[in-house]
Amino acid sequence: MKKRRLKKKPIIVLSIFLLSLIFIFIIFKLYKHYTSYEYKLGKTGYSEEEISDIIKLDKKYVNYALKKYDKHLIHLANEKYLIWPKYDNYVSFINKNYKNKKVDYSYVVSKVNTKTNYDYYTHTSETDMDKGYGILVNKYYRLPDKYSPSDIVSMSSSYAYPNNSIRSEVYEAFKEMSKAAKEDKITLIVNSSYRDYNSQKRIYEEYEDKKGQQYADATAARPGYSEHQTGLALDIFTPGSNMKSFENTDAFKWLSKNAYKYGFILRYPKDKEDITGYAYESWHYRYLGKNLAKKVFDSNLTFDEYYAYYLDK
Ligand code: DAL
Ligand code: ZN
Repeated sequence: MKKRRLKKKPIIVLSIFLLSLIFIFIIFKLYKHYTSYEYKLGKTGYSEEEISDIIKLDKKYVNYALKKYDKHLIHLANEKYLIWPKYDNYVSFINKNYKNKKVDYSYVVSKVNTKTNYDYYTHTSETDMDKGYGILVNKYYRLPDKYSPSDIVSMSSSYAYPNNSIRSEVYEAFKEMSKAAKEDKITLIVNSSYRDYNSQKRIYEEYEDKKGQQYADATAARPGYSEHQTGLALDIFTPGSNMKSFENTDAFKWLSKNAYKYGFILRYPKDKEDITGYAYESWHYRYLGKNLAKKVFDSNLTFDEYYAYYLDK
């Protein structure tokens, strides 16, 4: 009798030990489940499909998602040019403009990044002049009061129509580009270049008087907000062309392919009016310097978009 009881004891001890292990294992599993992102995101309202996408994202998106359900999060997070501190602005823009419509998330990001979600000439500030040849001047970023560059030089009649002047480095770059174009039997000629505050004012007011404010704003900058006042912008034609015909010339084709190599970019491209704030201008080229011009050209972005994402730090 005594012998049997002795044999039973180790079995009981072993069973208790195993049961304890199983119990600890279950508690551990439950703990892991209830503290997992999957469980918490599910509780916040995300579907299984959304959760599997969210947990692959950067931690900041996961933390945001844990706080509230947002159906735009995954789409926005996958946008290359999303700027995280602007996240709430993207969502406000969507809520205002896409009631029951399919959201174009890339467009939303571009609009908010470039501030064109705001009315023109609202939310303006003085541009950061420390950006040098990379300064941004548009309907939201103005030049300092009475700004005029100190290194303006006049352009010779071999390169420009009369009364044109530009910053010296831009002139050198244009001459280099013009010579290269000539080798390909293309003649480039500058039609307009540096314009001081008052000449820009005259141009804007003339357009406004003749065709109204909306037309004036689509085609000319208000004084203090023009790239021409920076001395970094050139309106380039080929002899015999004008604003209408220039885009159909070989000179335009040549510039589209080569201008960036000399430091220039097409500043107001076709179909980007909503982003640049200006109607398409096949003739308006902006000098950025060779390095930056190549980067902007390769990015396929407007300068406004490029600046917002890469330079506005
Ligand atoms: N035409 C360009 C936008 C300007 O006036 O600066
Ligand atoms: Zn221009």
